[in-house]
Amino acid sequence: MKWTEDLSVGVEKIDNQHKELFSRITDLVDAIRRHTCKYKIGDVVGFLDEYIVFHFGEEERLMREHGYPGYEQHIKQHERFMANFGELKKVLPKLEGGTKPGSYDLSVETNQVVVDWILDHIANVDKRFGEFLKDKKQ
Ligand SMILES: [Fe+2]
Ligand SMILES: [Fe+2]
Repeated sequence: MKWTEDLSVGVEKIDNQHKELFSRITDLVDAIRRHTCKYKIGDVVGFLDEYIVFHFGEEERLMREHGYPGYEQHIKQHERFMANFGELKKVLPKLEGGTKPGSYDLSVETNQVVVDWILDHIANVDKRFGEFLKDKKQ
């Protein structure tokens, strides 16, 4: 999973956090797929979880700071993600220690819940906020 320029929201700090997020998501997807990642799935889920909380917090703080009118809608999306990711967080560490039945389903589900969501959210919702910030600064 690679961050590409077309995902830029035009705010360097947020872009850098998205890049970091991508590398952590890649670790998670690899860990599930191969079960031979340098970290345990539970650890990778934990790293990602911590970073997501930090990143959402930063975005939400920026939105409040600049009186963003789309704030409520945006945080609703973050909250929905946290709920879905919370469900995954409960089941993923159970895959620890070798290939187990259901790991394929779980990797598909992880791709949908985490990868697809984040790509769509950045390309649409985060970008809208980035454009608002850019207009404000001009
Ligand atoms: Fe974001
Ligand atoms: Fe966001």
